[in-house]
Amino acid sequence: MAEVPKTQEHLFGGSPEKQTPNPAYCTLRLLRGEIGKNMNQKIITIDGPSGSGKGTIAALVAAHLGWRVLDSGALYRLTGLQARNQNADFHNADVLGEVAENLQVEFEHGKIHLEKQDVTDSIRSEKAGNDASRVAAVTQVRAALLGWQQHFATSQGLVADGRDMGTVVFPRAALKIFLTASAEERARRRYKQLKEKGMPVILTSLVEEIRERDERDMNREEAPLRAADDALTIDSSTLTIDEVVEQILAQAHKYCDLTP
Ligand code: DC
Repeated sequence: MAEVPKTQEHLFGGSPEKQTPNPAYCTLRLLRGEIGKNMNQKIITIDGPSGSGKGTIAALVAAHLGWRVLDSGALYRLTGLQARNQNADFHNADVLGEVAENLQVEFEHGKIHLEKQDVTDSIRSEKAGNDASRVAAVTQVRAALLGWQQHFATSQGLVADGRDMGTVVFPRAALKIFLTASAEERARRRYKQLKEKGMPVILTSLVEEIRERDERDMNREEAPLRAADDALTIDSSTLTIDEVVEQILAQAHKYCDLTP
């Protein structure tokens, strides 16, 4: 099985130029039918809670199919980080919405730059994850990022991972996966990841944080984390990465348009 690709195409599938949310353009594409029936046959959504392995699995599935990847969680992490950088009031929904709308991000060679600063690693910290979870509960933030996410759907094919890819962002995707795992297993995985990056981390507090974040993500009013009615749920607690990827690829052969 292939290594997880680290190129920017596989992180975001985006072109290296500066990117910023542009809801008007994306709404226009939707109206024109550019994200239409055929495009949907080339979209796989992978939703699920933190640490379920979505990012890794999405990148591998996309690499196999030659499709692009959208890591939607990174957009919320970038918004949270930018809100911190600007000392924004986390209780002011309009201000947070503006932060999301005005993000100036560049994806290049596996690196993410926020206003010229390399934030590739810093957006992955637990603190950034918690800030992301807070801004993700804000309607204005989700509205600002919606069109930008839909913009990633092209005829090349897209594997989109997040919380609401199958329920809100790509409700007509040909294949929807809900990937889950027990909180303990997810905490163990995150612990290993953070340790490898040399980040300070305590396992017990990670389990707590993961539970708290799940709670917030599942119970928020706006686009709560839940499986789409037509999603296939895969519990990865006792499966290897390769086994999960194989299951998804088998489904993709049934339900998606895999022609180049
Ligand atoms: O997948 P992640 O851990 O990088 O996501 C960070 C936070 O962003 C997470 O707490 C939930 C939120 N999120 C969301 O609400 N909707 C998405 N599509 C992706 C992430």
